[in-house]
Amino acid sequence: MKNLKFEDLLKEELEDLYDAEKQIVAALPKMVEAASDGDLKAAFQEHLEQTREQVTRLERVFETIGEQPGSKTCEGMQGLLKEGEKMIEELEKSSVLDAALIGAAQKVEHYEISGYGTARSMAEFLGQQDAADLLEETLDEEKATDDTLTEIAESIMTGGASSEDEEEDEEEEEEEEVS
Ligand SMILES: [Fe+2]
Repeated sequence: MKNLKFEDLLKEELEDLYDAEKQIVAALPKMVEAASDGDLKAAFQEHLEQTREQVTRLERVFETIGEQPGSKTCEGMQGLLKEGEKMIEELEKSSVLDAALIGAAQKVEHYEISGYGTARSMAEFLGQQDAADLLEETLDEEKATDDTLTEIAESIMTGGASSEDEEEDEEEEEEEEVS
């Protein structure tokens, strides 16, 4: 049995995220390819660029805490990405596949949000504020991606009408009633 210190636990959490991000970099091109909706394709492509930067940012976190990333396999991410791939294999290219891809991608984002939230807090508790700030930067990006995916899903499943459009429609209707 290993006798870990809190510092070791933070390092393990970071190694898990480091491997997860690299797996995501490898998986995203397949998701760009499988998506039909233009906005979704663009969102996956943008997230691919962002994820590459997140890998580099994690390397900076390791430097900041004076550690080297060891090799660790993130089995949780392997499972999530495998589920996504299965959908690409089984479903025809369509808006239904797009919605399924968004669901799979959001599970990935939530895994990351959870992992980065934990790592950020651990770094903070251990007095590693610079590392915590870097981790929070990525955490915010993952949350923003999750929100973007929710918006695109809404647009796909309601045939293009986002809730913003609906709000605008309602405002227009109200204006018409007044005049
Ligand atoms: Fe990420």
